[in-house]
Amino acid sequence: MWEKEIAVAHLAARESGKILSELFGKVTLITKKGEIDLVTEADTRSEKIILDIISGHFPQDSILTEESGEYNHLPERVWIVDPLDGTTNFAHCFPFFAVSIALEVEGEVILGIVFNPCMGEYFEAAKGQGAFLNKKAIRVSHSRALEDSLLVTGFPYNIRENHERIMEHFRRMVLRAQGVRRLGSAALDLCYVGAGRLDGYWEEGLKPWDSAAGTVIAKEAGGRVSTYDGKSYLPYEKTIVASNSFIHELMLEALNA
Ligand code: IPD
Ligand code: CA
Ligand code: CA
Repeated sequence: MWEKEIAVAHLAARESGKILSELFGKVTLITKKGEIDLVTEADTRSEKIILDIISGHFPQDSILTEESGEYNHLPERVWIVDPLDGTTNFAHCFPFFAVSIALEVEGEVILGIVFNPCMGEYFEAAKGQGAFLNKKAIRVSHSRALEDSLLVTGFPYNIRENHERIMEHFRRMVLRAQGVRRLGSAALDLCYVGAGRLDGYWEEGLKPWDSAAGTVIAKEAGGRVSTYDGKSYLPYEKTIVASNSFIHELMLEALNA
């Protein structure tokens, strides 16, 4: 099922990956969307190639992208695209970023691809078909206590306006977990939970393109994804917690304490 959609998403991710690799370390054109929110030539060029490929194969589908907004056609099929997740890393030549492509059908994300061209890591999942890294099945970790867990988080670009709650969550997690990381790509954070490299992830203020593909990958690998209040997560929610499922309630408790 979804063979054509998967093939087109692969093609778009590969072509985007070529552009990101070619421009990595060479970007000179960086503009600011906000005080600390960057956009580079790589974001716009990657987005253009993805848009061309998806709309060329599925002209009726809607596409929601970070840089150029929304192309509204069929409301029941929406491609959700982040052409470069980890722009700040990219702009600093820190090789941890990815392209993220998801397809939402009738309100449910049914496929996700996240490709980190620097590491040659290609994460993918389709609903009910498992999650894979470079074609090998991945599974979440077995950790059952926060004290044994390596967690990851991220911070929204408007953190300066609203830092108290976010820093309090960070403080609580740092004091309870084995370790906490801030890697700079929400899409990869979610894939790393799926691959069992990280045990849990939380963040607030994400946009649909940051999380859509990664959530299907984490879930298909056996993980659980919810909002901070435990409701099942859709890519339009304000808060996200993803985990190996075993530590999920512990993470929710720590966040809501
Ligand atoms: C950002 C990254 C980061 C997360 C931010 C996102 P961008 O996306 O995913 O890890 O903490 O909330 O906005 O701007 O690099 O595409
Ligand atoms: Ca992003
Ligand atoms: Ca982006």
